[in-house]
Amino acid sequence: MLDFGAQYAHLICRRIRECGVYAELARYDTPASAIQRSDVKGLIFSGGPASVYAKNAPLCDVSLFEAQLPMLGICYGLQMMVHLLGGRVQRAKQREYGHAVLRIEQPQPLFSGLPRQVRCWMSHGDAAEMLPRDFVSVAHTENSPYAAIRHRCKPWFALQFHPEVSHTAQGVDILRNFVLGVCACTPTWDVEKVLERRVHEVRQQVQQSRVLCAVSGGVDSTVTAALVHRAVGPQLTCIFVDTGLLRKGEAVEVSRTLQRRFGASFVAVQASERFLSPLRGLRDPEAKRRAIGRQFVRVFTAESKKHGPFEWLAQGTLYPDVIESAASRGPASRIKTHHNVGGLPGTLRFKLLEPLRELYKDEVRRLAELLGLPRNLWRRHPFPGPGLAVRIIGEVTADKLRICREASAIVEEELQRTGFYDRVWQAFAIVGEDRGVGVLGDERAYGHIVTIRVVESQDGMTADWVRLPFRVLERMSNRITNEIPGVSWVTYAVSSKPPATIEPQ
Ligand code: XMP
Repeated sequence: MLDFGAQYAHLICRRIRECGVYAELARYDTPASAIQRSDVKGLIFSGGPASVYAKNAPLCDVSLFEAQLPMLGICYGLQMMVHLLGGRVQRAKQREYGHAVLRIEQPQPLFSGLPRQVRCWMSHGDAAEMLPRDFVSVAHTENSPYAAIRHRCKPWFALQFHPEVSHTAQGVDILRNFVLGVCACTPTWDVEKVLERRVHEVRQQVQQSRVLCAVSGGVDSTVTAALVHRAVGPQLTCIFVDTGLLRKGEAVEVSRTLQRRFGASFVAVQASERFLSPLRGLRDPEAKRRAIGRQFVRVFTAESKKHGPFEWLAQGTLYPDVIESAASRGPASRIKTHHNVGGLPGTLRFKLLEPLRELYKDEVRRLAELLGLPRNLWRRHPFPGPGLAVRIIGEVTADKLRICREASAIVEEELQRTGFYDRVWQAFAIVGEDRGVGVLGDERAYGHIVTIRVVESQDGMTADWVRLPFRVLERMSNRITNEIPGVSWVTYAVSSKPPATIEPQ
């Protein structure tokens, strides 16, 4: 799939993989020679925010149209095909955004098995006004005469609507028809086979040498370690660092689970004080993040020397990380200095082993299941490398850390109890710097303000706050103020991302 800057690029890719077909993202200007390899069976042009007629609009290599490769343009992708092949695209009289009824005019391989009318999701300001030669309209909506078009004889299709979003009922069927029907792919992409292949590859790469892996107990690093362990057994050493900034009970639970799993290959390091003391007096979010990152490298380097030497470092890099870092992003887009167990500097001279680098999170969760890792480990919400420190505004003190940890545990427990936990992306408590006035008995008390944050998201890139029922919020609030000394106020964060971020710091 060529990416023209679509918000939903990864979603299209994932939907196709769900159909059993391997899909990958490439830059919009990837040369035709690199695409026309024998293993590329079809091409998708994504949506994107630009206008095809604008100066510097992103366009694909036009020589792609000299071949017969099956193609599917989506939204901007449709407009670009129309523009490059001799049709005309203009600003639509009215921007179309929201649900529409797609009326299919003639049976098409793309619409096989679909009724004549389906709901679809539109989001576009430009529209095709005149089709290129040999193109015909095959479906329309009330406002879009060219909601779906195709070439008369070549396997080229384009859609003005978005088949990848869940608002387009049967959108996945359309994508499946494209990859299995039009492109004639065989659905062989299957996470179980990927596991076997990766285990085999790791064995080949590593041979007799030793591998080091930093595990956090999160799904990515644990699956990486479990996969490498399956491949090379005791040649692997996993290091788990308890930073003192983990969730309630997490260090003990993770250590117990990983110890059981990896036996002598597992090393736990209790380093709370080494992390908490450099944080004293630090209030600036970035300074706190940097201090934790530095400390992690120090602790990890010392441990790796103690247990080494190692030739390889295994990291849980996932596909979206690979794509993100490959895209040229200016420094302005650095909103936060992210730190995680994979964020180790190049000065540690290891060869990198990244067995998950072509996978999405949901595929990694499936691997976790296949590898027999306990459900509570792979279903647990994502947790940032700098831990609770980014959920404490201002200085990280023992008191605020206690409140943050206990309040987050209450938030998680209440979501588990009411069945919301698995339906949301992340849920936690934030401890503010300001205090609020309260009453304790008959006395005036001055306590911390705790903010509950619960968000839903597909991948953490954008997020929406969750409209939890008041009764759930009420119980959380009551429990937090009753059970945690030093809290007088509880608030709920009703900011989405953007403009906010998920973590407050
Ligand atoms: P933000 O706060 O930037 O977070 O909206 C997006 C997602 O990233 C997680 N996050 C981190 N993960 N190291 C990590 O491994 C970090 O430093 C870090 N900071 C934020 C956050 O929890 C959310 O899922």
